[in-house]
Amino acid sequence: MEENPWDQIVEAWMAFNNSERNKHRDFLNLPAFVSAMPPPEKNSVGLEIGGGEGTLARKLASLGYFIHSTDISPKMIQEARKIESESKLGLEFSVENAEHLSFRSQSFDFVIAFMCLMDMNHPDKCMHEIFRVLKPRGYFQFSNVHPCFASTSHSKHVKDEAGVKIAREVGKYNEEGLTPVKWNYPPLPEFTTFHHHLTLSHWIMLEIQAGFVLEFISEPYATPEIIKECPHLEHTVTVPDNILMRFRKK
Ligand SMILES: C[S@@+](CC[C@H](N)C(=O)[O-])C[C@H]1O[C@@H](n2cnc3c(N)ncnc32)[C@H](O)[C@@H]1O
Repeated sequence: MEENPWDQIVEAWMAFNNSERNKHRDFLNLPAFVSAMPPPEKNSVGLEIGGGEGTLARKLASLGYFIHSTDISPKMIQEARKIESESKLGLEFSVENAEHLSFRSQSFDFVIAFMCLMDMNHPDKCMHEIFRVLKPRGYFQFSNVHPCFASTSHSKHVKDEAGVKIAREVGKYNEEGLTPVKWNYPPLPEFTTFHHHLTLSHWIMLEIQAGFVLEFISEPYATPEIIKECPHLEHTVTVPDNILMRFRKK
């Protein structure tokens, strides 16, 4: 199994998830992802790649989807199984590198990837694997850090005199590759991961070259209700942090 930095920081990641800081996921990104999913169908089986400790899979299971959730990190899967042994939602979990999936071709009705493709070393390999394991007419939905605004190695918020984020300064857009991301939110433990920046056109071409057709795209931003709950998400109204797309296997 390839080295994966995520396996080293599972405890710090869980602490981040369980803190106020991850409201971005719980209040904005995850609900947007769930509401964009086609409704669950009887006997339909979905594969999640890069599912971490299974937060999205649990949400989807509670809505009637059947998910086999996977991650490259054995410690993440251990956490997911621990939670499943208590919540008993009927989820399956296994350790899988999304760049070399062990499943047979055409095994799944849909594949989902939530905020993880940008963490993979070879997203192109991953795309071919997703296409391979999907049944004909199956769909692939993913969300990622927005490549135009938030994943380049030069991206910072511009603030006014009062410290309010009013714009985003972005450079090095065409410099693709892995850039370190420091997760530094005291008193939470600090940790570093890497984002694989690709241009927006490159991300879309990866799916098209694998054989997919684009059927849905959105850039979620906070509504006034979300801002009331999470004021630090207000900047997403001016510039979104994430992008969400769904492709269909022809
Ligand atoms: C930002 S975390 C997101 C986890 C989860 N989707 C969530 O939103 O809570 C990225 C995840 O991608 C996983 N990952 C990185 N490279 C991977 C690969 N090649 N195959 C499968 N999972 C991978 C990491 O182990 C980590 O759990």
